[in-house]
Amino acid sequence: MVNAAIISLGSTSSQWTYEAMKNYFDEVDNLQLKDMEISFSGDKSEVLYRGETIKRYDCIFAKGSFRYAQLLESLTAVLERGCYMPIRSTGFTVGHDKLLTQLSLHQAGVPMPTTYQVSTIEAAKNLMEKLNFPLILKFPNGTGGKGVLYADSVVVANGILDALSALRQPFLIQEFIDTGGRDVRAIVVGDKVVAAYQRVASKKEIRSNIHSGGHGEPISLDAHTKQLCVKAARAVGADMAGVDLMISHRGPVFLEVNLSPGLQGVVSTTKIDVPDKIAEFLFTQTKARNEEIGKEKSQQIFQELEENSEHEMITALEFKGNKIMIPQLITKLTQFNEHADYRFKAKKEYLEISRFDVK
Ligand SMILES: Nc1ncnc2c1ncn2[C@@H]1O[C@H](COP(=O)(O)OP(=O)(O)O)[C@@H](O)[C@H]1O
Ligand SMILES: [Mg+2]
Repeated sequence: MVNAAIISLGSTSSQWTYEAMKNYFDEVDNLQLKDMEISFSGDKSEVLYRGETIKRYDCIFAKGSFRYAQLLESLTAVLERGCYMPIRSTGFTVGHDKLLTQLSLHQAGVPMPTTYQVSTIEAAKNLMEKLNFPLILKFPNGTGGKGVLYADSVVVANGILDALSALRQPFLIQEFIDTGGRDVRAIVVGDKVVAAYQRVASKKEIRSNIHSGGHGEPISLDAHTKQLCVKAARAVGADMAGVDLMISHRGPVFLEVNLSPGLQGVVSTTKIDVPDKIAEFLFTQTKARNEEIGKEKSQQIFQELEENSEHEMITALEFKGNKIMIPQLITKLTQFNEHADYRFKAKKEYLEISRFDVK
């Protein structure tokens, strides 16, 4: 029995992923992120779902928006030792903050627009004097293109900075990448890009998000760009993600890694069943993890058994055709081998096997 849970805010994409997971796992629960609660006390930490201790799962896929980054981080930190999770717990605060994302991408050697962070509006204004326009000013946790501001002159930039200051809105400053309003969304699943499409901004926009009126077209990426997409997802600790990049004159530059990418745009544009790819990947990773742990456990039992002289084990018998298979643990323990002879003593409901030349 391999079971799983998806913990999300219940978006359409999450619903699709839940449905697809049911085709692979024996049991899947669809849990609402807003109904999760975490308690820490003494040396115990616990995750509650609707007031009850959360069930044990082989796989938990937790996702949500930046507003829930801290909840997601602590939730997954408490649960990640017990199951397979496609996103490392530390990934949530990084992935939901564009500045921390750029920092991680930079450290991983993934190409990106030159990005600046300053602590005060005055420092930003001073910096602007030295930079070339146009520039992008960006909120660290905007989504859907909201929070991306375009400044084509120092006059416009100063106006924006004053407004940001009045709103106490943190921001980062970024080199403007001119691609004629096009960017690429690639869906990374495991070590592959399973689908990618290009988003083209409407004539009145520089932001190509579908939410900002952009439209999608399929695109095929070269092997190098695909590799960088996988690297970008890994840089924030995700096995799966929606990666945003722009194909500039100096090659691909990476903007952000979405831990909970909307799937409608990519599915309708590419006709690729992305939820199925995600579900299949979650299942194979979970099975591999279970097998690994199973192996560790039997090794542990075997070591414990070896230390004693005689062992008893109660288990169902496995047959291959009409021959009995001896359990692996027992086979190992006996150190029986194919070169020696063995004596069988058998009657109804009884079997004894011993080495023939040993008294
Ligand atoms: N440095 C940049 N240069 C040019 N366009 C940009 C830049 N950063 C963002 N954009 C445009 O704005 C869109 C949204 O930016 P992004 O960083 O992905 O934030 P969001 O989370 O809002 O999608 C991008 O898809 C791209 O079209
Ligand atoms: Mg984006």
